[in-house]
Amino acid sequence: MTKKIAVLPGDGIGPEIVAQAVKVLDALKADGLDIELEEGTIGGAGYDAAGDPLPEATLKLAREADAILLGAVGGPEYDKLDRPLRPERGLLRIRKELNLFANLRPALLYPELAEASSLKPEVVSGLDIMIVRELTGDVYFGQPRGIEERNGERVGFNTMLYSESEVRRVARVAFDIAMKRDKRLCSVEKANVLECSELWREVVLEVARDYPEVELSHMYVDNAAMQLVKWPKQFDVIVTGNIFGDILSDQASMLSGSIGMLPSASLDKDNKGMYEPIHGSAPDIAGQDKANPLATILSVAMMLRYTFADEVNAKRVEDAVKGVLAQGIRTVDIATEGCQTVACSAMGDAVVAAMRG
Ligand code: IPM
Ligand code: MG
Repeated sequence: MTKKIAVLPGDGIGPEIVAQAVKVLDALKADGLDIELEEGTIGGAGYDAAGDPLPEATLKLAREADAILLGAVGGPEYDKLDRPLRPERGLLRIRKELNLFANLRPALLYPELAEASSLKPEVVSGLDIMIVRELTGDVYFGQPRGIEERNGERVGFNTMLYSESEVRRVARVAFDIAMKRDKRLCSVEKANVLECSELWREVVLEVARDYPEVELSHMYVDNAAMQLVKWPKQFDVIVTGNIFGDILSDQASMLSGSIGMLPSASLDKDNKGMYEPIHGSAPDIAGQDKANPLATILSVAMMLRYTFADEVNAKRVEDAVKGVLAQGIRTVDIATEGCQTVACSAMGDAVVAAMRG
């Protein structure tokens, strides 16, 4: 059966990086992968096209698709819009509408990029962490929320909230992933201060009973932030809530040289997924053909692995990326001495050429 992929380039550098990932998908299709791509708008582009950062047509397209490839959303021209109309809301809504609760963010250091990391090579070499971020709950979605007047001044408030079923399902995903890796899982929260985290820890401990082989540890998020730069290789799999995961995954990306290298998968309970780079829309370099498309291309590899269970093609894409890095081809964000710096589009071409071997 033909697999349908919804392609949502979004804003800023979104269209240029997604175009490179589409080259990779087209190459796979030419070699027999049975896929069909259809484009839709989201974020600021959705607002411009239909007055909504998640247009009805896009949501329909995404629901009907087997997988979704997303670029990035947001831009300064949309910052003044009412909150519900802002690009970020479109992204949050599509995650919520499709129940994409498990966000997998691997932080992997390619040996060729050890020099590009701001940390010492010995601290980051061999780094291979999987961050499992809960994506549809927490302070991102908790009610009540708002800005209102109390006692003659404005107050802003949000609600950090997790139900035990929400914690349980993402914990299971994380334990299952740990079982396929080094069997070590670190649950990150702030249980010394927050009730929400206290429950999180209790539920993770309950789920742990079903995974006796996995070595489970717990860490407060402030300490986890420190340990991530102190000795990141102590981590195998990290499971954490939405806001802590948002912050820690940006931090972890720097260990791997550039935020332009990190892909992600957001999965529902049946492994339907949305795949996107973890970086944003980078409006400052948009339209200049110099963004790094590798995080988006690596997101295609994750799509092949997790939604299509096609390990062979996933590896083919990842090996092509490794091959390109080994050839010394770099976009400007990961440039090191003696390498060949190329544009975004040339990087896409280089990956396709490497796939053809
Ligand atoms: C991310 C982004 C989003 C988030 C923004 C754009 C809403 O930072 O995917 O990490 O906070 O989840
Ligand atoms: Mg983020």
